[in-house]
Amino acid sequence: MHKKLLIPGPTEVSPRILREQTRPLIGHREKAFSELYGQITEKLTRFFELPADCKPTVTTSSATLWFDIVGRSIVKEKALACVNGAFAERFAKTLQACGKKTDIIEVEWGKAIKPEMIAEKLETGEYDTVTVCHNESSTGVRNPIHEIGKLIRRDYPDVILAIDSVSAMAGDKTLPKEIGCDIIFASTQKCFALPPGLTVSLVTDRAIERAKQVPNRGSYTDLAEIFEYEKKHQTPFTPNISLLYALNKRLDLMLEETYEHIYQRHKQMATYTQKWAKKHFALFPEPGYESITVTCIKNTTGKSVQDLKTKLAEKGYIISNGYGKLAEKTFRIGHMGEWRLSGIKKVLKLIEEIWELKN
Ligand SMILES: Cc1ncc(COP(=O)(O)O)c(C=O)c1O
Repeated sequence: MHKKLLIPGPTEVSPRILREQTRPLIGHREKAFSELYGQITEKLTRFFELPADCKPTVTTSSATLWFDIVGRSIVKEKALACVNGAFAERFAKTLQACGKKTDIIEVEWGKAIKPEMIAEKLETGEYDTVTVCHNESSTGVRNPIHEIGKLIRRDYPDVILAIDSVSAMAGDKTLPKEIGCDIIFASTQKCFALPPGLTVSLVTDRAIERAKQVPNRGSYTDLAEIFEYEKKHQTPFTPNISLLYALNKRLDLMLEETYEHIYQRHKQMATYTQKWAKKHFALFPEPGYESITVTCIKNTTGKSVQDLKTKLAEKGYIISNGYGKLAEKTFRIGHMGEWRLSGIKKVLKLIEEIWELKN
């Protein structure tokens, strides 16, 4: 029996999207490929309402490649990395592993990064790049990226803002023109509701120009090279063409549903799940900063989350335990991609039955 995924990625992929991957292959230097890839970037441009100075690209990689791309192609002298969870920490460590000086703003897991914290550091004038995780999948915290972007664009026009929106983009609000970010990216196994293996990134010309000034960009991590090939609707290296077929189809469905409706649907699932969680347990994130794609719930029952997971799996659904040090202390429900409220309600009811929660 297939067990449906309500984890913070990978999420469920519909059969019609899975089927797209069985199309015959084409050569990635052929006209047919440029047509396919050109359609994808055009649809991404429309969906994310990209202004003329912001361009999409799709890499054959999971999203972590973009930590390396920022490290190798964007950070010139010194980065400021905002860390409030496991993925933001990995972003920071990757910049350091790329040999770049990186200072870290660290706040307790469960708390959000506030614009004032960044402003205080940027006043020193030491940083050319800021990294933030939009939606910390480890804690269910949604950082205020619009406010952070506004601050950086107003006071620090030369600072590049790179945002990991891996578990939020295509669910939550992520229009670069509204945020004022230079790079925002997400892998496809989350809200895009595709298999893993591709990452969508939206990049400003300013970031591409920055990349041209940064030496030792490597090959797979060379942002300037990626956008040289974009001019021909190609990728520098052999892409996962089968997955690109699936992305092309998924973007049709996303455009049909519309950006705003997708956001409202995710918000509706989150609002319901958060209310349910507050009734039976407590939420882990700081109030006002709860994710709309993954709800991280404090396990106030003292019962075994692992046991709940096993019993729920027997009924056909998979949820996540807490991440790392939060295992058993919290559990996480991912409500993203093609999930609808009716499906979420069904699973929450099953949890009530398994844990014999009172109504
Ligand atoms: C917020 C966040 N950032 C980064 C990653 C890493 O993405 P990937 O596994 O696609 O490399 C994840 C994966 O779960 C994530 O949730």
